[in-house]
Amino acid sequence: MPAMNTHERALAEPAAAHATGSHSGLPPRSAGAPASPCTERWNRTVTADLRSDHAGETGAVQIYRGVLAVARDPAVRRFAEHHLATEQQHLDVIDRYLRPQDRSRLLPAWRVAGWLTGALPALFGPRMVYATIASVETFVDTHYAEQLHYLDAHLQEDARYPDLRRALNACREDEVHHRDEALAAGPAQGWLVRVWTWVVATGSKQAVVLARRV
Ligand SMILES: [Fe+2]
Ligand SMILES: [Fe+2]
Repeated sequence: MPAMNTHERALAEPAAAHATGSHSGLPPRSAGAPASPCTERWNRTVTADLRSDHAGETGAVQIYRGVLAVARDPAVRRFAEHHLATEQQHLDVIDRYLRPQDRSRLLPAWRVAGWLTGALPALFGPRMVYATIASVETFVDTHYAEQLHYLDAHLQEDARYPDLRRALNACREDEVHHRDEALAAGPAQGWLVRVWTWVVATGSKQAVVLARRV
């Protein structure tokens, strides 16, 4: 039975959230209720950051779908199924803060890129998948940490700051957990892995630059 992720832990502590009058992690969505589209307006930097988060989490969901389309190893499939559920939660979270009209216009491309980032290494076996996830999540940890740094420096006067910060930090903690799980699984070594993970890390950086704009 996999350990609870940050969101699941947050959702398991509704009393604490209630007692403080604020969310102790990510606000739960009412069961069965359709989410109303976000109407929040943020400054240009936060909007760009959230757009890149939304693009990244869209890609992350597709990474694990790509893994599951190819991998047959039971352990790697469990790993991918569990992570896929968490990434879908992250996407739902970002949707709560980003207006639909502020999403990346390149979402179809991010979906394809994400799927390939999961499916291609899965052709080479579980250890290549773990190396890929370790590389992606190392990058995503830094990506979220930089945003939190910006929020701490520029948004503390905004009443929405604690809620947004908590949500993004909960995502970041899950990504760190994903990275550590991948590292603990014993990722592959060798020149092919080094080349591939360089491509993944560089591609992730370039994708963020682009997704922050369009
Ligand atoms: Fe994520
Ligand atoms: Fe992740």
